[in-house]
Amino acid sequence: MKKIITYGTFDLFHYGHLRILQRAKSLGDYLIVAVSTDEFNALKGKKCTYPYSHRAQIVEAIKYVDEVIPEENWEQKERDIVENKVDIFVMGNDWKGKFDHLKTQCQVKYLSRTEDISTTEVKHHVKNESSIEIKK
Ligand code: CTP
Repeated sequence: MKKIITYGTFDLFHYGHLRILQRAKSLGDYLIVAVSTDEFNALKGKKCTYPYSHRAQIVEAIKYVDEVIPEENWEQKERDIVENKVDIFVMGNDWKGKFDHLKTQCQVKYLSRTEDISTTEVKHHVKNESSIEIKK
């Protein structure tokens, strides 16, 4: 069984989140998603709209996701990979090159981000009562 792991905050779950989870799962059989806790986000200077328990439950309900674990610090990735016998570590290409040191433990893949959407962008559109434009 091929296991995949990915990390993220997943606040205000959106289409870009769905697509990265779908593509991550298609690389193997079992997808683990480490969702950043509120305490870890505070450390990163990131403020979420939804609390960890809501974000984790939403991600867990996505059909591509087999397991959710908390992401509590920067250093846990090596341990997660070993403990969960992970084959592929996946991140969006906004992190390209940043986790190459994990290549000694498993495959490392950076997937392209979905264009024109992010949690920051969603917040902007809600504030302005505007819609996200879909490119045909
Ligand atoms: N992601 C993606 N395409 C997007 C937005 C996010 O593939 N348009 C991916 C990221 O690369 C990451 C995961 O989804 O691997 C979780 O990203 P997260 O940082 O939680 O979402 P963002 O929308 O980027 O949030 P923010 O605007 O707060 O940075």
